[in-house]
Amino acid sequence: PFYATAARQTQGGIETPPQRYCVFMTFDMASTLTTDLQVLLARWSAAIAQLQAGKTIGTVEPSHGAGVGADTGEALDLGPASLTVTVGLGPGIFDERFGLAKHKPAHLAAIPALPSDNLDASLTGGDLSLQACADDPQVAYHAIRDLARMARGTATVKWTVLGFGRASAGANQSTPRNLMGFKDGTRNIKEPADFSKFVYLKDDAGWMAGGTYQVVRKIEINIEIWDADVISDQQRVFGRDKVAGAPLSGGTEFTTPNFHKAGDFNGRAIDPTAHIALAAHENNDGVKILRRSYNYTDGLNQYGQLDAGLFFAAYMNDPEHFTRIQTRLGASDRLNEYISHIGSGVFAVPPAPRSGSYVGEALF
Ligand code: HEM
Repeated sequence: PFYATAARQTQGGIETPPQRYCVFMTFDMASTLTTDLQVLLARWSAAIAQLQAGKTIGTVEPSHGAGVGADTGEALDLGPASLTVTVGLGPGIFDERFGLAKHKPAHLAAIPALPSDNLDASLTGGDLSLQACADDPQVAYHAIRDLARMARGTATVKWTVLGFGRASAGANQSTPRNLMGFKDGTRNIKEPADFSKFVYLKDDAGWMAGGTYQVVRKIEINIEIWDADVISDQQRVFGRDKVAGAPLSGGTEFTTPNFHKAGDFNGRAIDPTAHIALAAHENNDGVKILRRSYNYTDGLNQYGQLDAGLFFAAYMNDPEHFTRIQTRLGASDRLNEYISHIGSGVFAVPPAPRSGSYVGEALF
């Protein structure tokens, strides 16, 4: 359910085992009236509760011909399909426009410029975010479409990504593969204790207790160049075996990598500039983030090459943890030759509302 329960204070779509599809959209507020923001969050919340239950958000077929449907109808008969919609608030919600600065979550601030950024302004930022994930792509799309429709006049759409083939693993899920053909999510956060320690905010976060921060990056992959790379180099880039997913220091998929083991890549079995060597918590002061990414494709680019990549979505109790890891990756990751960060956003994800209430109620 969308609303908080005794056992769960957090919104869905975070700890929820990743569904197969995702539609992500950001919005900028068009109105500067605080009540318009409040009404939008309340209407979205009520609608999301309906959608997650597999219901429409109003009539599809009005009783007389001059009526316009409240729900667009394309998800009728498809059921809930494990839908979750996660609502995020960008830094702009707490600027001078709405008088909410005193409620600003302690760690919410735009992600600073990072090495190897290639950001497109039209794919960056946003005052609000919606992440809809479901096992049926049409259910996820319908949710975003109808929620965007409700926002018309109050907020304008900014950027969106359609994700498929979850590229992250939750607890008890087999590890899927990203478009580079490697298993993604092997060493993701899976234990409840790690969710408490690294993802959710504690009581000292005030109204945000039970909430978290969402960092998203649209990362283009130069697929043709990657596909021409020899297998030994592909494995060196990640520090893992391609098919089995085992670390190059030996063992099987879930064997803990040994970053000190001697070998052929800059003196180590796992190259010190391999993606996992630079990203692992052992080499980042123990910091972990929850990754919940999806593959995406936008068809072909202007050169007739595949336009595809990773919609990277991550949750953490301080966005500085993303910044810290990405600062190291951006400077030296062997993966950089094949990828480009083109979109970015950071959002505070409030806790789930109490039944009958709405996301962000504490702000108003
Ligand atoms: C691990 C792929 C971007 C953080 C991995 C793994 C793969 C992978 C295949 C190894 C399996 C696993 O443990 O999940 C990619 C691709 C990316 C990308 C294809 C971009 C297109 C990022 C970014 C970050 C990140 C932007 C964060 C700033 C991590 C972390 C790990 C990891 C923390 C776990 C390392 C460990 O503990 O061993 N990634 N990744 N990745 N990645 Fe990425």
